[in-house]
This record gives sequence, C-alpha cells and structure tokens, in this order.
Amino acid sequence: MELLYETLAAELSESIARGVLRPGDRLPSVRLLARQRKVSVATVLQAYLRLENEGLIEVRPQSGHYVRPRRALELAEPRTSRRAHTPAKVQVSTGVAALVASMRDPSVVPLGSALLSPDLLPTGALNRMLAGIAREMSSAGATYESGPGLLTLRRQLARRSVTWGMSLGADDFVTTNGAVEALHLALRAVARPGDAIAVESPTYFGVLQLIEELGLKAVEVPTHPRTGVDLEELEQVIRTTASLKAVLVMPTVSNPLGTVMSDEAKQQLVRLVAKYDLDLIEDDAYGELVFDSPRPRPARAWDREGRVLFCGSISKTLAPGYRVGWIAPGRHQERIEQLKFAFTVASPTLPQMAVAEFLASGGYDRHLRRLRATLRGQVDRVREAIADSFPAGTRVTAPAGGFVLWVELPQGADALELQSRALARGIAIAPGQIFSARGRFAHCLRLSCGFPWSARIEAAITTVGELATVQLSRRRTA
Ligand SMILES: Cc1ncc(COP(=O)(O)O)c(C=O)c1O
Repeated sequence: MELLYETLAAELSESIARGVLRPGDRLPSVRLLARQRKVSVATVLQAYLRLENEGLIEVRPQSGHYVRPRRALELAEPRTSRRAHTPAKVQVSTGVAALVASMRDPSVVPLGSALLSPDLLPTGALNRMLAGIAREMSSAGATYESGPGLLTLRRQLARRSVTWGMSLGADDFVTTNGAVEALHLALRAVARPGDAIAVESPTYFGVLQLIEELGLKAVEVPTHPRTGVDLEELEQVIRTTASLKAVLVMPTVSNPLGTVMSDEAKQQLVRLVAKYDLDLIEDDAYGELVFDSPRPRPARAWDREGRVLFCGSISKTLAPGYRVGWIAPGRHQERIEQLKFAFTVASPTLPQMAVAEFLASGGYDRHLRRLRATLRGQVDRVREAIADSFPAGTRVTAPAGGFVLWVELPQGADALELQSRALARGIAIAPGQIFSARGRFAHCLRLSCGFPWSARIEAAITTVGELATVQLSRRRTA
C-alpha cells in the first residue's frame, strides 16, 4: 500500500512535471498544506523531503520550499542523426570491452553503464521470496522448466500485458535469460548471416554486438531524439536494401535517446513492416520506466499478423542479476521455442518463481511509481549539472523515461579519448562511437543517471565537463 506522504509527493511531482507548479514557485507552507489535506505536519515534511531528494524542490532558509529553477531548460536537444543507407559490418566489441571492465571496479563513478543502484531496487523482498520458495519446496528449481518457460511467470506476464495495452495469453510468451537472450533468439529466428537489420541511430551497443556476433549487418536509420526513428527514411532503407529482414527498435523509451514514439508512429511502423513483409523486433527493456503514467502501449498492441517479436525483462526494474526476461514471438513462436531449447534448454527456474511471486504480490506497481519519480529527479539533476559545467554548445536529451542521457558535445570532441581520460580520474562514461555500427558519434557520449544524486556524482560530472572543455580548446589551438 502506498503511504500518505508518497501519494502527496507523487501528486506534487506530477504538478511540477505538468508545469502547474513552475520553477521558482513557492510551495504552500507545511502547516497550510497539512491543514488543507487533513494530514499531519510530519507527512507533509516527509513528502517535501522526498521531493527535495529527487531534486524537484529546494529549501530556502527562513522562506520556505520552492520549485527548483531549471538551468537545464536552456540546453538544446541533440540533432537528428544523419543518413547512412548502406548496410555496415558492425565492430563495436573493442570499445564496449573498456566499458564492461570499468563496471567491475566499485571505486569508479558509474556514469558509463546503464545500471541502477541496488538501493533503488527491492532486492531484499525479491531475495526473501526466492529463499522462501527454496525452503518450502525442497524440489523447487531442481527440474528443467523447458518449453516456453515457467507457467506461473508467463501467467503474470499475460496479466501485465493487459496493463501494457495488449492482451496476450500465457502461451504467447517464452521466458529467456534477460532481454538480451530474447533479442538474440529474435534475430536468429528472422535473419541469416549476411542479412541486414535496420536499427535506430544511435542505438544500444548490445544490439550492435549481437548483430556483429551473428554475422549480420546493421543499417542505421536517422532518429530524432524526441519522436524516434524517421519513418520516411526507414521506408527508403527498406526499399533500397534487398537483404533487409527486420527492423529492431525500442519504441517505448529507447537507449540511449530515451525516446517514446507516439501511438500514431508506432501504428505506422507496424503497418510499414507489414507492407514490406518484414518482422519488427521490439525491445521493451525500458518500457515500464516512462515518466508519465499510464505507460504507452507497445507497438505490438497494433500487430494483427504476429510480426512483432516483443522482448522485455526485469533487468531495469527489479534485478538484472536474476536474468529473467521474455519474448512474445508472434508468428515465430515455434521457431523461438526450438532455438531456446537448442541454446540453453531452459532458463533457471528459481529466479522465475521469485519474479512470478513478486509480480503476483501486487507491490510491483507501487515500486515502479516510486522508481520512475526517483529516476526523473536524478535525470533532471544530471542535466542541470551538465548545463553548469559542460562546454558552451553542448546539447543533451530530455528523455521521456529511463535513466540515461545522450550528450552531444561541440564538433571536434573525441569521446573515446574522453573516456580514457575520465577513467584515469576514476569516472566511467560511455563513448558515442559504440552506439553506431560505423563508429559515428565521436563527439557524443551517454551518461547514466542510475545512482542517487550525491556530491561524488556531481563532482564527476563537473570533471567530465572540464575534461571536455580542455580537450576542445586543445584541439582548437592545435
Ligand atoms: C535497450 C536494452 N535492451 C536490452 C538490454 C539487455 O537487458 P537484459 O539485462 O535484460 O539482458 C539492455 C541492457 O542494458 C538495454 O539497454
């Protein structure tokens, strides 16, 4: 059950997001609000403290609580990526290796990989459920859960799919080892080595790695940071690329841009793949993290022909280490089940059981509401710090959800060099080049906002801004 102060904080944060309460506005005094809402002063204080921690409001001594001014509003958004219509062989693995290595070192400030702080996840509750299941059922988890995966989990996914705006049945899902296995199976089912896959530009490096390892080619389609993949350009790509087999996109919170495509655009996208007899691989890994509720429908909701292979996981909301994900493969169901059996036989049973129980327990939506509000606050804080300390002319996304920012530095910056200079100062960042099959976006980087705001994070962002400024001025004078 949501606590009173949480409800109040959520309402106020909604008013700030909608612009009803504007930057610089004074909030009602604690006593007045307590009287108006018929709650205790302590409840209002707790709600204000939550908003303060989320970076939405600030206390001015002897004056009261105010909506924080937003310097970040002055930052322009990145430009739409350019076209490169021919399929490219992908080579991102080397660049990704440095990022993965930095993940292992706890002394490094984690602005590089899209990981959430364990403090934001209900790990304790989930682990207790797992332990309880293991204790009570001596044989639990000891047998293969082959075929499409654990039925109780698939039932829960089917129930959730109603809230996602598409009523799927338990039999429509196959459970996987995270979203990455779902994407792997999907690519295997629809394409053979040498075939091409259309992707957003920039796109998540893990997708590019899969394409690279499977001997496929990527065609990068221009993508707008707010509206998503350019559908006219996509149609052009489809018409001119004979080897194209599928389109792989993230219509509801993309990584790294944080884009949510409109319902109309999703519908048009589904129509487009049907028109050219292609498949659509929909990566919904961040779909539950849209800041504004209710979460928009996935593209799959408009699919009547089973062409959309819908992939998701709990990695960005509950526990990446549980490796619980899923795919609703549509017309490729049988093939995906065959592939899943051939590669891994089954996913581990116990984590599936624990996740099924967590979803059934009813606490998931409350957790998601809290997580979204926290992430929105963290993202805002990082944007503001970028506005304060990055070189003039820097552009940055204003994501509609998730917890990563795409930063476009002035031309001339070299993100790979910046990555190694930042790492030497104990800070991980993700260089733009690994988000492109062709090593584009050398002047861009992705910053993760998955950890609670702190002086350490603030100092790290200031340092990256200073390193970028020094790099640019050195290059200008060279
Ligand atoms: C867009 C996107 N898809 C898929 C994945 C992989 O998720 P999982 O950890 O569930 O395999 C990630 C992880 O970072 C991601 O960002």
